[in-house]
Amino acid sequence: MGHPSAIATLLCQLGLSVAIQWLGLTESGSGVAWNESHHCRLLAGLVPDQFQLCRRNLEVMPSIVQAARHTKSVCQKTFADMRWNCSSIRRAPSFGPDLLKGTRESAFVYALAAAAVSHSIAQACTSGELPLCSCGSVPSEVPGPDFRWGGCGDNLRYGLQLGTAFADSPLKSSKLGTQGLKAMNLHNNAAGRQVLSDSLDTKCKCHGVSGSCSVKTCWKGLPNLDEIASDLKSKYLAAIRVTHRLIGPRKQLVPKEMDVRPVKETDLVYLINSPDYCMPNQQLGSLGTQDRQCNKTSVSSNSCNLMCCGRGYNTYTEEVVERCHCKYHWCCYVVCKKCRRKVERYVCK
Ligand SMILES: *[C@@H]1O[C@H](CO)[C@@H](O)[C@H](O)[C@H]1NC(C)=O
Ligand SMILES: *[C@@H]1O[C@H](CO)[C@@H](O)[C@H](O)[C@H]1NC(C)=O
Ligand SMILES: *[C@@H]1O[C@H](CO)[C@@H](O)[C@H](O)[C@H]1NC(C)=O
Repeated sequence: MGHPSAIATLLCQLGLSVAIQWLGLTESGSGVAWNESHHCRLLAGLVPDQFQLCRRNLEVMPSIVQAARHTKSVCQKTFADMRWNCSSIRRAPSFGPDLLKGTRESAFVYALAAAAVSHSIAQACTSGELPLCSCGSVPSEVPGPDFRWGGCGDNLRYGLQLGTAFADSPLKSSKLGTQGLKAMNLHNNAAGRQVLSDSLDTKCKCHGVSGSCSVKTCWKGLPNLDEIASDLKSKYLAAIRVTHRLIGPRKQLVPKEMDVRPVKETDLVYLINSPDYCMPNQQLGSLGTQDRQCNKTSVSSNSCNLMCCGRGYNTYTEEVVERCHCKYHWCCYVVCKKCRRKVERYVCK
């Protein structure tokens, strides 16, 4: 330590990691009452603006902790069938190169995390957990002939307002990290929130005699985060590689390849190509796919051919125990037997 370039590298890494460091709140923030402002110090590395937001809005912190937890689990679930399976997100608040650099994978994680905070706050408003917000306002569109607006819609506006302030502030205030990377992360945060906004849907409940649905009450509600993540995974697969270039008076993100269409609001963008994640490589943040399970009959990303990168696979049989021959007993329980069944598993060499 002490060598200028070593310090520069360290500062650079800190700067790069800071924007989604709050995902580490799942470790430090669970079990905290969040009723005293010094609790905000629990998350080392909150940027000053986030720290202020925490102090002024202690009541939203449980929603933010929940968003961090959901982001981590939903990301891993959504990418379970891919070579890069998001397992490195568990290391939050410290990350590896796969999420520190301007990769396609970090584009996805930023977008999902930004969507998750707003989602979590919007739904906390609805469930009455937050003193400063409640149900979303009644939609301005005229209701259909067979329903009326009612119920309690998700307060997307409040979720977006506070969620944006929280998720974007590390990128707006921090002097660390390159301009290009910050622009990329800001774009992907906004894209995640746009996908969230577009997912707001009309949900209804029937009333009327014996479920005849002669009267319907409807409101605007958000789907669960898995659905947002699945939309974002499609965007991840179609993500556009960009560069941060001077266009007129200011720098903008423009496609690196000349023949690609302009970047849309809901596109995910990235700056550097990712490795193929086939072999372990610490420098690149690749864990490799050795010992990953693959599917012999699938033709998609979890097929043995794609998952194992052509290295082949080992087969082994595993015995699974299942409930079977279930019988219903009056009244009111079910008794099942245990059956053993052999299944073949395939694991990458
Ligand atoms: C915060 O919550 C804890 C645990 O519920 C309680 O012991 C403490 O008195 C509370 N502090 C304030 C300021 O309400
Ligand atoms: C994700 O990939 C890593 C590295 O290949 C592996 O160790 C881990 O078990 C995988 N996780 C799941 C849930 O498959
Ligand atoms: C493997 O893939 C096939 C085809 O997509 C699917 O029907 C099957 O359930 C999968 N098997 C496992 C063990 O996931």
